[in-house]
Parts: sequence; C-alpha cells; structure tokens
Amino acid sequence: MTNLFQAERIDGKGFAANLVSRLADEVSTIKVKTGLTPGLAVVLVGEDPASSVYVNAKHRQTQEVGMNSFVHKLSADTTQAELMELLAQLNNDPAVNGILVQLPLPAHLDANAVINAIDPDKDVDGFHILNAGRLATGQEALVPCTPLGCLMMLKDRLGSLQGKNAVVVGKSNIVGKPMAQLLMGENCTVTVAHSKTQDVPALCRTADILVVAVGRPEMVKGDWIKPGAVVIDVGINRIERDGRSRIVGDVAYAEAGHASAITPVPGGVGPMTIACLLANTVTAFHRQQNQKN
Ligand code: GUN
Repeated sequence: MTNLFQAERIDGKGFAANLVSRLADEVSTIKVKTGLTPGLAVVLVGEDPASSVYVNAKHRQTQEVGMNSFVHKLSADTTQAELMELLAQLNNDPAVNGILVQLPLPAHLDANAVINAIDPDKDVDGFHILNAGRLATGQEALVPCTPLGCLMMLKDRLGSLQGKNAVVVGKSNIVGKPMAQLLMGENCTVTVAHSKTQDVPALCRTADILVVAVGRPEMVKGDWIKPGAVVIDVGINRIERDGRSRIVGDVAYAEAGHASAITPVPGGVGPMTIACLLANTVTAFHRQQNQKN
C-alpha cells in the first residue's frame, strides 16, 4: 500500500515558541518605557492533578517572558465567600493585569458566579459574560485562549478565511462557542455540531475548516475529512495502546493524510493555549494603561 500522507503538519509548538519570544521582547520594551511589569494571577482551588500541571506550566512560562506571576493555591474546601474576597483583592491590585481561575472548580463552588466576579478587563480567559457578549457582537474583547490560538494558526495557514465553510465540533463555552464566534467574525459560514447533531460525519465532510473539540479519542475518522481541508484538533486524550499510555487527539491523525494541513497532538493546539494566555495578559496591560491616560 502506498502511504501518501500529504497533509502539512501545523507546528503549534514552533508557532507558540515564536509568539512567546515576541511577547518577551514586548515585555522588555514595556518595562523600559513604563517602569512597570505586567502581572498574571492564577487561582487554583483544590489539588486536581491535571489542573496542577497546567497551573505550574502557566507560572513557569509567565516568568519566562519576564512578567510577574502570582499563583494562589487554595484548599479544596475554600468557600465561595473566601474565593470572592480573593478576587476582589486581585481586581483592585494594580500589579495584577490578568486574572485566571483554573477550571473545573470543586462542585460546591458556583463557577459562573466566580468567573463573573473577575474584572472583565482583567479576564484573560475571556470567560466573563461581558467578554463573551463583546465577542459575539464584534466588540473589542478578551478572547478565550484556545480558540484564539486556533484562529492564529488558521490565518497563518490560509490568509483570509472569508467564505470558507467551517464546522466546529463541540459547543463548550471554553472552545466551541467562542471558536464559532471568531470564525463568524472572519466571515466564514459556520456550523456547530454537538452530541445531538444528526449525521456528524456528513456535516464534517462539508468543512473547508474543521475544528474538533469534544474530548473523545480519535472520534473523527479519515473519511469524515474533505480532501484539502484544514483540520484543527483541540483534543488531548490519554489512552492505553499497545500496553503503553499515550496522548491522542479527537481526530484519527494517521487517517487524515488527504487534509491539506492538520495540527498534531501533542504539539499542535496545546502549546498555543498558554502562549495566548500570555498574549492576552499583555493585551490587558495595554488596555488598562490606555484607560488611565
Ligand atoms: N481548564 C481547562 N481549560 C481551561 C482554560 O482555558 N482556562 C481555565 N481557567 N481553566 C481551564
């Protein structure tokens, strides 16, 4: 059998490294020009192992670009009132330009109330209802990091996205919904598929741009992908195969050789998420400075 895997591998890791290096330069310039250091506060409640890994990575990379990182690790039995009190302090702290509360939160906490207690101008996750509304209405917003990273890679690969048929599989508040909004903002024709959608494979076959964010290992098969499509795989799934543990995406990568380009897992979307978080923090810093002047 000839193995014609022609799809270009979209190098998210390299793309993120590039972005991070530009941000480090920008942070140096900010320090020289203003005497200020942008700062990001990350709040982790409880000890979920995956969340701890993400928070540690965010802390390290924030420091690597020369910004201040303030990590608040709270016990799993933290009350809603205690968390709200911390957010009020961070909202009022001029050294903190960005605030992120790592999700998921323990079940006794009201995640929506917590997110909406963050100053929208410091909401570097872009999850506050005001930022969601601004994005949906085409106003200047802080945009969720993962879909922002996906959009950057799509534009780098395709230039204008105008008129393309885009299918987003998954309708989460963190990825699917904001991704659809961003693609509409680029004048794509957007369809969002989810667990109740009829004939997801047929819908995916209409996509020039296919973004998959469902958290199901290798759900999207090769014959769901239109030849020449650009595929963005947001999934990060740990599976056991051949007696060893490995990470795979939501797309059966080995079957996607007829796409024009695809993000690998790992090394695709994942590294872009933290890079975009740092970019959002720098953006938030500039907007806060402009508001003062
Ligand atoms: N948990 C999983 N993804 C995210 C994210 O993008 N932001 C936050 N705050 N928590 C998450």
